[in-house]
Amino acid sequence: MSIETLLCPADQAGVARAAALLRQGEIIALPTETVYGIAADARNGSAVKKIFAAKGRPQDNPLIVHIDDVGMLPGLVSEFPERARLLAAAFWPGPLTIIMPRGPEVADECCAGLDTVGIRMPSHPVVRQVIEASGCAFAAPSANRSGRPSPTTAQDVWADMQGRLPLILDGGPCAVGVESTVVSVVGAKPTLFRPGHITLEDLERALGEEVELSPAILEKLAEGEVARSPGMKYKHYAPRADITILEGTLEQFKAYVEAHAAQDPACLCFAGEGAKLAPFPCVEYGREGDGDDQARHIFRSLRALDEQGDRVVYARCPRKDGVSMAVYNRLIRAAAFRVVAL
Ligand code: TXA
Ligand code: MG
Repeated sequence: MSIETLLCPADQAGVARAAALLRQGEIIALPTETVYGIAADARNGSAVKKIFAAKGRPQDNPLIVHIDDVGMLPGLVSEFPERARLLAAAFWPGPLTIIMPRGPEVADECCAGLDTVGIRMPSHPVVRQVIEASGCAFAAPSANRSGRPSPTTAQDVWADMQGRLPLILDGGPCAVGVESTVVSVVGAKPTLFRPGHITLEDLERALGEEVELSPAILEKLAEGEVARSPGMKYKHYAPRADITILEGTLEQFKAYVEAHAAQDPACLCFAGEGAKLAPFPCVEYGREGDGDDQARHIFRSLRALDEQGDRVVYARCPRKDGVSMAVYNRLIRAAAFRVVAL
């Protein structure tokens, strides 16, 4: 597959070009507040198929449908449940995807055989302008090749997708940095499927009830266990480096890395720690204890490790609560679930 790819600013002309391509059944990449996405008209099955081909994405992993107004919901969902209304009122537009009963107009290719659909109303002005100009609700996964870290800059999209789609809109780096929180309101209890900038506590406060944590979030699924959110079962965010997370203090971390110096390791550490870990090469991924800052940097830092070359990497461990839960969730996948308690 080789298509001529245009990388252009997300200005008025860029938005108009993106909207025209979407209406023609093409796919395009664009910035959102979370990560960059690849969009296709969610009602057009053959357009949606192109996303799977461009990403190399498994067919059984469903896509999120993006809207800019709740007035777009009829036809996309068969019901707008009360819990979804509460969450939408609290967090839309913003980095929250709500899994609801699927409506008849969503292309089968978006849903991977499920009778549900994930809907998100993003806040980023460029996505909103493209939805408005095209009139399309669009399916949009993250704009990485399947299995790679999600892209948070247009240059990272270019590195993965150049030659695979006709247009990438450059809207600068993404503010949130990790993908949207995914919550299901379909079962008996609301369930968090993927942690993000909107935390478990935020969801519980808005709903006034407990939200279940899907078991795949903080640990590896047991053999034979079924992921309710298909994306959770795949190897994900995997840089080419061989990462192990070390859980402990900076002093313990440094001692462990020094003891393994023969492996010629690099470190994935918190902001400001690089100098203390010399002479080992370091990539920093945000301030210790600051989930928002870590979220903004984690994917770029994983890509930066690859740009430095294949090697053994030891990573500092983020907290597992608040926004850091989202960072930990991505990092354990990047590390193939290798965590050592010091
Ligand atoms: O922030 C985001 O959500 C970004 C931007 C581009 O909007 N999109 C994104 O899409 O992260 P993607 O395809 O990379 O991740 C979608 C996740 C997957 O883990 C998928 O399995 C899950 O949402 N998902 C989608 N529809 C679902 C459904 N009906 N039931 C359960 N999980 C679903
Ligand atoms: Mg993704």
